[in-house]
Amino acid sequence: RIAYLNGDFVPLGEARVSVLDRGFLFADGIYEVSAVLDGKLIDNDSHLARLERSVGEISLALPVSLPRLVEIQRELIARNGLADGVVYIQVTRGVADRDFHFPEGATPTLFLFTQAKNIIESPAAKTGVAVKLVPDLRWGRCDIKSVALLAQVLAKQAAHEAGCAEAWMTRDGFVTEGGSSTAFIVTADGTVVTRPNSTAILPGCTRKALLALAAEGSIRLEERAFSVDEAFAASEAFMTSASSFVYPIVTIDGRPVGTGQPGPVATRLRELYIAFAR
Ligand code: PDD
Repeated sequence: RIAYLNGDFVPLGEARVSVLDRGFLFADGIYEVSAVLDGKLIDNDSHLARLERSVGEISLALPVSLPRLVEIQRELIARNGLADGVVYIQVTRGVADRDFHFPEGATPTLFLFTQAKNIIESPAAKTGVAVKLVPDLRWGRCDIKSVALLAQVLAKQAAHEAGCAEAWMTRDGFVTEGGSSTAFIVTADGTVVTRPNSTAILPGCTRKALLALAAEGSIRLEERAFSVDEAFAASEAFMTSASSFVYPIVTIDGRPVGTGQPGPVATRLRELYIAFAR
């Protein structure tokens, strides 16, 4: 695989960053993940807008313009012959001797690579996935797509050890979001419910596109926090992310959601999103 690092296209295994990189020492950096379908970037403007916002929120300047970043993404897709998968972007505050405050004159580190993944034909989309509830241990700025992911690593590892594909993080009896996805339920009357954007969650790009598609499709929507009890009582549940699009959720902490099978609303929304992506 070919990666991009600070101006050069290099074999992924040969890409090297200093141990003094602030991403390594402080997790002082931002990342972004865009899906690729048939070699084409999906909803990429939305991901780059979020990247620009995230870096701005930590007073970090992108070392290249957004149009240049798109060129780099496209060149990586071409050089890797990537049909379906994701392009990962990471930008950190760069290399400097260890000191908490921002270094003067450091150049941000920019790294991109690709991962192949068949998002459309994923078995998880057909069978649905299990989720495990875990406490949300994250900080107060979950709207920033920071590379500081220890809470999500531990949440998703606990889910994995329980045989679950995703962790749903909870705070004060309410679901915030998935370890790396947005959380949705469908109530008995067919209303899609998801938490409104705030500093408690990442503003999902897939979430945003899907809410627009649901509105066009005359699906009832409510943007409000939902409780763990509502999730247990829901007729359907599902998750969204760039790397999964829409996955139905069939169990929560081992309890079947609705019929315990992928539901009609999640299935329809996945179809609508795939049509949008194509
Ligand atoms: N995760 N919430 C969290 C905490 C996330 O990390 C992600 C994305 C999402 C969904 O956002 P989007 O629809 O824009 O992908 C929600 C990416 C895919 C990751 O960490 O790999």
